[in-house]
Amino acid sequence: MAAIQKLYEVCKVSLFEKGPSSPEAVENVRAVLDMITPSDVGLECEAQAVRVWRRPRALSRKTVLHSSPAIRYRHIYECKSFSIGIYCIPASSIIPLHNHPGMTVLSKLLYGKVHVKAYDWIDIDEPGNLSKVRPAKVVRHGEISAPCAAMVLRPTDGGNVHALKAITPCAILDILSPPYSSKDGRHCSYFRRRPKSDQSGILWDRTRESEFVLLEEYQPRDNFVIRRDLYTGPTLEL
Ligand SMILES: [Fe+2]
Repeated sequence: MAAIQKLYEVCKVSLFEKGPSSPEAVENVRAVLDMITPSDVGLECEAQAVRVWRRPRALSRKTVLHSSPAIRYRHIYECKSFSIGIYCIPASSIIPLHNHPGMTVLSKLLYGKVHVKAYDWIDIDEPGNLSKVRPAKVVRHGEISAPCAAMVLRPTDGGNVHALKAITPCAILDILSPPYSSKDGRHCSYFRRRPKSDQSGILWDRTRESEFVLLEEYQPRDNFVIRRDLYTGPTLEL
């Protein structure tokens, strides 16, 4: 059985409309996801190219950003319980800070190197606080390189709000459970750190010794687009 078919089969018995059936179910999906390689999903050539990839020299930052190809999403499967797809991210491209409300996400870096910054919301018990600014704590801040284990984030922990910056061209296979659905109140919002002019932009919780920041919702710039791309790996038998 093709590896991607195995992944679909384990998702089908582990992930439901309300998300994973149990922590063990998440581990079962993760175990299969960890075995997936670029050649299992039609990305062998792209992964090979990254092995000899060199950062373009003598180009200004502005030129690199201006000429970067788009981020592409290769859709593989989606039902009410889960979605499977791959983000192919060119070097230097950024997926801004965004959330996965009420969702569990398993992310497997297939090839390349990416910088991840991830936060979890800090719940504050302030009834009547209608501010769109919310405190969040940093739970991950660093680079990861393939091959590496899949990351798992849950509705309230593991880095539900995160941003990615591709250091080299990279591809990330994402399983979302349940998937985004605006009509069910699960839409993707984007966030940014409260501007530095505000002294409360970065704070230290001295009692917990952890860094936290204030995040506010915003609309990313118009030049942030994710284009659909064709999935070229083995076809799933549903
Ligand atoms: Fe994400």
